[in-house]
Amino acid sequence: MSMLLEVSGVSVSFDGFKAINNLSFAIGPAEMRAIIGPNGAGKTTFMDIVTGKTKPDEGRVTWGERNVSLLGMSEARIAREGVGRKFQKPTVFEDQTVLENLLMALRSNRSPFAVMFYRSNRADLDRVEELAGEIGLLDSLGRKSGELSHGQKQWLEIGMLLAQEPRLLLVDEPAAGMTPAEREHTTAILVEAAKTRAVVVVEHDMEFVRRLDCRVTVLHEGAVLAEGSLDHVTTNSQVIDVYLGR
Ligand SMILES: Nc1ncnc2c1ncn2[C@@H]1O[C@H](COP(=O)(O)OP(=O)(O)O)[C@@H](O)[C@H]1O
Ligand SMILES: [Mg+2]
Repeated sequence: MSMLLEVSGVSVSFDGFKAINNLSFAIGPAEMRAIIGPNGAGKTTFMDIVTGKTKPDEGRVTWGERNVSLLGMSEARIAREGVGRKFQKPTVFEDQTVLENLLMALRSNRSPFAVMFYRSNRADLDRVEELAGEIGLLDSLGRKSGELSHGQKQWLEIGMLLAQEPRLLLVDEPAAGMTPAEREHTTAILVEAAKTRAVVVVEHDMEFVRRLDCRVTVLHEGAVLAEGSLDHVTTNSQVIDVYLGR
């Protein structure tokens, strides 16, 4: 199987400190991957590199069937290539309803010209309902987003990302601040999303990672320490030393 994203030999230093050290990572087109590792391991920096926010000092980042390099591209261009990223703080428009937020996300795909002459059509409303169903907010379409719970706002944000049909979705610590029930629902949304796209999830909650039921990459000091099933990596003695045994 050819890979969707391939990161090879990437390094980046901040003021002489090597935050990412000869990192290699690859993910296929419809794959779920969890990334775990201690604080400061480079997990967020890895996402910054893939999205173009941080430019590496060395290495390659290639994308898609034609293995184009993402390194020369702006963040906006990389997003248009199909890389979506969910930040911890949701950026939903609180005064708008769930429906309006999802519609806006759907239309932000289109050119400004198309948006200007746009009329709400049945196909878009159908798509919004489909997305709302995927994130469990079908009953909340008419509610103001500001009234949603923390977990529901996070799901709406995921729905808004999915509306843009990313081929790769990067999610950094989605379970933070969620109740156990909200965490479970979040796993279900991500597992469903990974059936048709690549999803990379950084998460500390091991129960959450277990439910993702996927290959796990352990980062430590900016490099891959171990990779494989959760059972495989959690019995690795180095992983226990640097991460689990703390
Ligand atoms: N913009 C930056 N400037 C300086 N140091 C940074 C910057 N971004 C990250 N770092 C450092 O790089 C290391 C990795 O950080 P990060 O990727 O946030 O780790 P993680 O997400 O795994 O906790 C940390 O030591 C952090 O302090
Ligand atoms: Mg982080």
